[in-house]
Amino acid sequence: MMSQTIGVFGLLFLTLANCQVIRVETDTTNYGPVSMVVDNLAEIAVDVSDETTAQLEGKINRTQQDIAGNIEVLTANALAQLSDVIFETNQILVANPDCNVAWSLDDLNDNVTHQVGGCMGGLGDLLENFRLEGQLALERVQELVQEMAQLPAKCQMLGTSPLNPVASAGGSVCFINAMAEINKGMAQSLHNASLLLVQTHQTTEDQVEQAQRCCATVVQQVGDYLHEEQDQCQQQ
Ligand SMILES: *[C@@H]1O[C@H](CO)[C@@H](O)[C@H](O)[C@H]1NC(C)=O
Ligand SMILES: *[C@@H]1O[C@H](CO)[C@@H](O)[C@H](O)[C@H]1NC(C)=O
Ligand SMILES: *[C@@H]1O[C@H](CO)[C@@H](O)[C@H](O)[C@H]1NC(C)=O
Repeated sequence: MMSQTIGVFGLLFLTLANCQVIRVETDTTNYGPVSMVVDNLAEIAVDVSDETTAQLEGKINRTQQDIAGNIEVLTANALAQLSDVIFETNQILVANPDCNVAWSLDDLNDNVTHQVGGCMGGLGDLLENFRLEGQLALERVQELVQEMAQLPAKCQMLGTSPLNPVASAGGSVCFINAMAEINKGMAQSLHNASLLLVQTHQTTEDQVEQAQRCCATVVQQVGDYLHEEQDQCQQQ
């Protein structure tokens, strides 16, 4: 993330530096060349930023998939661990119709599903929050790219006369200043987005550990309970 960020800003600052040089050469001619240069620079900056935005979106998507995948795998594991003992208990009950049990298989399944689902609460909340915050982080970056794309049009509005060199100078000063401002916002937004990703990965690890401990407890308790039921049934 950091090296990409530096790459992007290296390039944007480079475009600003080019702009400065070209401005000196073309200011005193007419509006056309400056306008074209500004258009091209804005286009390059937008292309680079679009790429950065797509990469950020990809990282956000992968992070979401990672959390959702953890929920699926942990749930499937816990249910798989219990399904054997549930099946075995059910066989024993079927073979011993006189056994008087105080529960039904459906209730037990509901109970297990409910408890394992509860173990995923932390990861579920994390996923929900990250969906929102990731979307906001992406929108902030997309807004800045859009501002960038609109800069040539916005800054040329200052040049009222195409043949007025002062006006065209105003246009490129406007462009350079606005681009510097957008760069600052972009750096801040990408920094925030990368903090969000790093924090989310750390929190995911913590929540996965908690969910694993929680599932292990449920598996243990339900397993113990069913083994007791089996013993009682077979003693009768
Ligand atoms: C991210 O996910 C969204 C929604 O599922 C999808 O529309 C988009 O193409 C994905 N983007 C990337 C870069 O993977
Ligand atoms: C599930 O079973 C456990 C232990 O057998 C019990 O303490 C708990 O109240 C049950 N929960 C539900 C939702 O039925
Ligand atoms: C970045 O995060 C800081 C602290 O959370 C916040 O104050 C600031 O508004 C954010 N900036 C952007 C551009 O998202």
